[in-house]
Amino acid sequence: MSMNVPDLYRIEHVEYACEGVKVFRFHAPEIARASQPGQFLMVWLPRHDEIPISISDVCEGDVEIAIADVGDCTHRIHEKSAGDMLGLRGPFGRGFSFENVHRSKICLVAGGYGAAPLKFAARRLIERGARVYVLLGASTESNLLFVDDFRRMGCEVRIATDDGSSGFKGTVVELFVELFGYDVRYVDEVWTCGPEHMMYRICSITKNAAIKTQVAVERIIKCASGACDSCDIGGLRVCTEGPVFDADVLQDTEFGLWKRDESGMRVPVKTGNIISSPATPPIFIPEDDPMLESNVCGIQFKNPLMNASGFAISGKMLYRIAKSGAGAVVTKSIGLHASHGHPNPTFIEIEPQTYVNAMGLPNPGINAYKIEIEDAKRANVPLILSIFGKDENEWLKIVKIAVNYPIDMIELNVSCPHSGFKALENDPESLCKVVRKVSYVAHSHHIPVVVKISANTDDPAYIASLVEKHADAICAVNTLASKPVERSLGIPILGNPSGTGGISGKKIAEIGKKVVFRIAENVSIPVVAVGGIFSAKDVFDYAAAGASLFQIGSAIVSRGLPIFEEIKNELRKMLSEKGYKNVSEVVGMAHKR
Ligand SMILES: Cc1cc2nc3c(=O)[nH]c(=O)nc-3n(C[C@H](O)[C@H](O)[C@H](O)COP(=O)(O)O)c2cc1C
Repeated sequence: MSMNVPDLYRIEHVEYACEGVKVFRFHAPEIARASQPGQFLMVWLPRHDEIPISISDVCEGDVEIAIADVGDCTHRIHEKSAGDMLGLRGPFGRGFSFENVHRSKICLVAGGYGAAPLKFAARRLIERGARVYVLLGASTESNLLFVDDFRRMGCEVRIATDDGSSGFKGTVVELFVELFGYDVRYVDEVWTCGPEHMMYRICSITKNAAIKTQVAVERIIKCASGACDSCDIGGLRVCTEGPVFDADVLQDTEFGLWKRDESGMRVPVKTGNIISSPATPPIFIPEDDPMLESNVCGIQFKNPLMNASGFAISGKMLYRIAKSGAGAVVTKSIGLHASHGHPNPTFIEIEPQTYVNAMGLPNPGINAYKIEIEDAKRANVPLILSIFGKDENEWLKIVKIAVNYPIDMIELNVSCPHSGFKALENDPESLCKVVRKVSYVAHSHHIPVVVKISANTDDPAYIASLVEKHADAICAVNTLASKPVERSLGIPILGNPSGTGGISGKKIAEIGKKVVFRIAENVSIPVVAVGGIFSAKDVFDYAAAGASLFQIGSAIVSRGLPIFEEIKNELRKMLSEKGYKNVSEVVGMAHKR
């Protein structure tokens, strides 16, 4: 398998598994070998979209997925026949845990096409000597999925249909209660997949009976790699930390209450439900860190590390980043109105730890974002709100709303290479006007303004010098424009209309460091470094080039949230070995002669 990009596979076999659901089989030995029940593949319909689909079975190098005809993309995939090609990548995510399943009694509870991952799980459970009960629910008999498959494997299958056309008349939750009562001690574990309100009710019953329960959660998946946070549930990323969670882990999240739409906006799990918030996170007090503390633009940072914009959309995720050791947090770029962003594929890995994304700035809009900022602020670190506008009018409207929120800085994203509209940094006259007007509003509320630029213009240092008069700091670099193609089809891989995305990660560190050096040479306001920071050495290089604060993005994908503590530990060691008392002593060192 290549890096994390879709590869094309031939459909070997396709057939209806029940009304509205088709199973597709591919010969994909590497994917088959790596797959675990509960994991999912990203299925690419070239020129259209890429969607997450659970693996429903694996056998002798073949992988099977079941696709319900529920939307435009799935409908088009249903029109495909054996011999046609689809792109696949994966497997992704965390599957079911098989710890202690030998000789135990496991009850699988499926609603609708939630039976798909449970079929693969049942096969592996039976192989491991578990006794498997399967409760299958559907609205009517023709929608029951994999009944015969479960029976052939040796599972004890019970059925519930809403209309009573097969088995028990009622919901699968009612059947569950009918069979086991509310005191479920008859089984050792419950694994469930299906509509969230159904799983929520199952979890309430099993919680009372203290039965270990694993839940396969569905959320909107975009990057599938733990980068974009579109699939957030209570600060957990479903694409990498799920989709299977222990029910206990979901307890303090919005599970069963609300989810997020494509923009990141909170929407009820069940139409008509009220969006009641789960508990706000407890107040967190970050520790003092004398060697790393910094004061930039009059703001005190316990340490100069923070996440880069775009790696957290929920307030809970920002809070979690702060708890992981970041000295500040930066929001996703927020616009005036909610926006869904681009179709998938939106995020691929082109070389080890080098990525290209074209998310297209999905965000819930500035009005809906207040609640996320409030959650994030419970972590007590400076919060930088990143914003973008399509024209001067939008920039001003956003900033006038934003200044009333509990934010510490505003970062102007004037440099996204895949927003679908011209980046402001490409229009110096408008850029200067917007920075002047936005800064005027922000400064009247004592909020400093950072302008984030890229290496995509001919002379980033010149752009920085243009805005220096009104901005308080410059942030560089945003992603580097690029258009990766699928070679056999000869088309761009990324799903947005232009196919252009931005490179991030390892590959842009060198250019980022050069750009920061040139900017620091040209301006006298602070510089915030971003681009390929993976280690304390990168921080040291950027600081020497003239940066005072450091944003980490892609390294969160490759190395996870521990990256903040790892870099801080490395950095303290490096500084003390070289005899420095504080990181600020390194800032601009490369400019001295
Ligand atoms: C998935 C993803 C989403 C991003 N979203 C934003 C965004 O909303 N606003 C922004 O200014 N930059 C965004 N960026 C760019 C990053 O903030 C950062 O400038 C870039 O990734 C380089 O840093 P890195 O090499 O550490 O990832 C995004 C990058 C990625 C990979």
